[in-house]
Amino acid sequence: MSYRCRICQSPVLPFMSFGRMPIANAFLRSKAEFETEYFYELKPALCPVCKCFQIVEIPRPEQMFHDHYAYFASTSAVMSRHFAAMAEDLKKRYMTGPDCFVTEIGSNDGITLQNFARDKTRHLGIEPSANVAEAARAKGVQTLNAFFGVETAKQIVAEHGNADLFIATNTMHHIEDINAVAAGVDILLKPTGVMIQEDPYLGDMVEDCAYDQVYAEHMYIWSITALNNAFGRHGLEVFHVEHNDHHGGCMRYHLGRKGQRPSSPELAAALAKEQQLGLDRAETYVRFKQRCEESRDRLMSLIDGYKKQGKRVAGYGATAKSATVINWCGITPGHLDWIQDSTPAKQNTFAPGSHIPVVAPEHFRANPPDAAVLFAWNHFKEIDAKEVAWRKAGGKWIMPVRKVEVV
Ligand code: SAH
Ligand code: TYD
Repeated sequence: MSYRCRICQSPVLPFMSFGRMPIANAFLRSKAEFETEYFYELKPALCPVCKCFQIVEIPRPEQMFHDHYAYFASTSAVMSRHFAAMAEDLKKRYMTGPDCFVTEIGSNDGITLQNFARDKTRHLGIEPSANVAEAARAKGVQTLNAFFGVETAKQIVAEHGNADLFIATNTMHHIEDINAVAAGVDILLKPTGVMIQEDPYLGDMVEDCAYDQVYAEHMYIWSITALNNAFGRHGLEVFHVEHNDHHGGCMRYHLGRKGQRPSSPELAAALAKEQQLGLDRAETYVRFKQRCEESRDRLMSLIDGYKKQGKRVAGYGATAKSATVINWCGITPGHLDWIQDSTPAKQNTFAPGSHIPVVAPEHFRANPPDAAVLFAWNHFKEIDAKEVAWRKAGGKWIMPVRKVEVV
């Protein structure tokens, strides 16, 4: 099978396969659904020309983003605070003119835009998953239930005018046709308008071997180099970046029209670090594959060690990321009794692929396991503080990726 880069159409060759994968957020509501579960082969590749890290085979978008999409961003208090702070920063930087207009794709349950809606700033969220879009509207966040692209951009301009700000957090890695998004951004933004993107950063993923960032909904893991190449085709460029530790390491990219704004010293430093990490070189990913295999073997030996002693092991956080770990490592209901998750939409379902039952936090409290695989490792501080009693009673976390260890 031959594949082409989704951005520049150059031939690309996957450097590894994580095997047969279900859709990461497709929790199954009954055993009857096991028969018809959808699988694809998870194969990442680096485009040798535009340097975009991407998954070569993906399900149709409607199979991933729909009226029972399981990810409600505001579940995390930490992320709510993070995006509240981002909104205040962006207002000061880019929303100083009269009657400013902010747009956001993947606006989800309104986690970010609620901070603009609150002070009556003109805003519009574009969100294809109907259930989360409805949750946003209930908070007073104006939301268009649609996939963003050229037509949506034209419709928004006709109804609301051009935008000062276009935000996409944890969303641009979900969208197959980035050229359509970039063309839409070009239509939507004012000449001086700014685009903000933030998502898990390729540099962190490679450095930490956090391979669980890779799954169909994360069909790209972005770097500055790749983003500049992709949006450069549509007249935009990165002029500033900021790194943060959320979701295991995210980059916030500030983009404007080419030549519109001076590029920052932070951008130059981050680009130099990309070179040093070899993010644009094939050999980096040969080593990455070896590290993924070592990581898998170590995790399974830790879980097997507990099971051999007759101990009870569960999962904590039915994250989308966990689908890659569980299915790549071969974790079954024989390894984990259940996975606890605080999201009501995920409770009383079965995890995709493995069919491990997903239960509510009360179940964890009533049946404390000896060890829990912390699939939501990116929320370690928040979760560890919440489960301090269990830890004091001897409960252990098994960290599934990065440094695979018992803590
Ligand atoms: N912005 C939030 C939510 C990210 S989840 C946060 O940072 O936490 C990604 C969101 O993108 C989902 O709600 C999904 O429905 C939405 N999405 C997927 N494809 C999209 C598209 N083409 N246009 C706009 N939103 C999209
Ligand atoms: P998250 O890591 O934010 O994203 P992804 O699904 O993209 O990998 O998911 C965190 C999951 O962990 C979410 O399903 C909610 C759950 N969770 C808990 O069960 N308890 C908690 O205290 C927190 C913070 C999250």
